[in-house]
Amino acid sequence: MAACTDLPFRLIAREKGLAFSFLEMVSAQALVRENEKTLRLLKTAPGDRPLGAQLLGCDPDNMAAAARIIEDLGFDLLDLNLGCPVKKVTSNGEGSALLKEPAKAAKVFSAVKRSVKRIPVTVKMRKGFQDDSGEEAVRMAKIAQAEGLSAVTVHGRTQAQGYSGRADYAAIGKVKEAVGIPVIGNGDVVSAEDAQRLKAESRCDGIMVGRGGLGNPWIYRNLERAMTGSEDPPYVPDVAERRRTLLKHLELEVEHLGERLAALNMRRIILWYTQGLPNCKALRVAVCRTTDVVLIKRMIEDYFDALPCELPPPMAPILLAE
Ligand SMILES: Cc1cc2nc3c(=O)[nH]c(=O)nc-3n(C[C@H](O)[C@H](O)[C@H](O)COP(=O)(O)O)c2cc1C
Repeated sequence: MAACTDLPFRLIAREKGLAFSFLEMVSAQALVRENEKTLRLLKTAPGDRPLGAQLLGCDPDNMAAAARIIEDLGFDLLDLNLGCPVKKVTSNGEGSALLKEPAKAAKVFSAVKRSVKRIPVTVKMRKGFQDDSGEEAVRMAKIAQAEGLSAVTVHGRTQAQGYSGRADYAAIGKVKEAVGIPVIGNGDVVSAEDAQRLKAESRCDGIMVGRGGLGNPWIYRNLERAMTGSEDPPYVPDVAERRRTLLKHLELEVEHLGERLAALNMRRIILWYTQGLPNCKALRVAVCRTTDVVLIKRMIEDYFDALPCELPPPMAPILLAE
């Protein structure tokens, strides 16, 4: 997820049980031009494996060149973005706009597949651009399969929906019925019950979690356990663990991105970890007013010191949109 799933986020998530992680999307054009900010987005570390990279673009030659770079950088998988709903992206014909251009998408898939030799190529798409039926995703998944892609992920919303309404798991099921390659379901999974419903309604082969992991890195192990038949109740971290995890997230931000960027990123990160907690507004406002990471650390410590032992479980800021 753009501006969310950076290296510190992924390291924390993996420590708490995430099995496979993706980088945020990067523009194929910017990557080929060796844009410095784009190269920074690809920053990883030895513990950050297995790891998929994702490319955004619609020009077959450009996507093929960028795909080669991704493979040479040593990523484990390459995903192609046919899901981004943002106007700035779709007005260039990229992201979810490709759902309306099956012939062009086929050329992109084919060019990328020819240029990548060792790693699997997958595609992530919305269920449609404007068409609510799920048929656009079905059509695109069949093209992906025909061009030799290894799997498809479907977010059960249209581009037109943005993040409103609820993800349509039946549409994901239509894709699953239509192709033989693995189908990964995505959208609104914030609990084991959601994951079980997604699996039951779509019969998908895997589950991708986006916003549900923000400030709740414990979700991955809880989902894994529920999906493998464990009867145990979900693990709920205590106040001390939540405090430790947030402070570790801050520490990793500083270590990998430097103090200034870390402080700016904390404005977002603090929202995730304090969702649903008492008296969080003052802390959130105070973090937004400083770029001093030592001060931020102290503010977090003071805030958690004053919290009661009994807290509501971690909850995702589910309304957060791109
Ligand atoms: C802030 C934000 C950034 C996102 N960035 C990406 C991205 O870079 N690539 C991508 O495939 N999806 C991206 N998404 C979409 C999510 O991966 C996911 O498909 C969507 O949020 C629905 O799943 P969820 O309900 O589990 O979050 C982003 C979503 C959000 C909210």
